[in-house]
Amino acid sequence: MEQRHDINFRSLIEEAEYARTKAYAPYSNFKVGAALLTKRGRIFHGCNIENSSFGATICAERTAVFKAISEGERDFLALAVVADTEGVCSPCGICRQVLSDFFTKDVQICLANLKGDYEIFSISELLPLSFSLDTN
Ligand code: THU
Repeated sequence: MEQRHDINFRSLIEEAEYARTKAYAPYSNFKVGAALLTKRGRIFHGCNIENSSFGATICAERTAVFKAISEGERDFLALAVVADTEGVCSPCGICRQVLSDFFTKDVQICLANLKGDYEIFSISELLPLSFSLDTN
């Protein structure tokens, strides 16, 4: 039985806004921040980091997830993503696949903008029929 956790999404979005201040986006000028909350209560921040070889750019979501994984964290509660968008900021396809590899169905993905709008999704809502190497 999965345990439900009360998550303070407003404060997780604030953490993502803080992460966004570190974004390196000289090419698109589109700054994104992410904050990943683990079951142990740690928060990993991520921002997008662009590169002059554009394909080497990494999104905020993947920065946060890869930081956490590289520190040995595998158990996540929630991810907040924020950008200066009209609607809420929606992750790209590559990030959805990465989230799908590391997030269980109960991880709450909070998509937000700077105006205070936010919506919560699970990874299966963001990436239905996802690819998996799982052969079971
Ligand atoms: N980007 C993210 O960091 N996350 C998203 O959810 C959408 C896109 C970044 C990649 C690139 O640096 C810039 O936003 C424009 O695509």
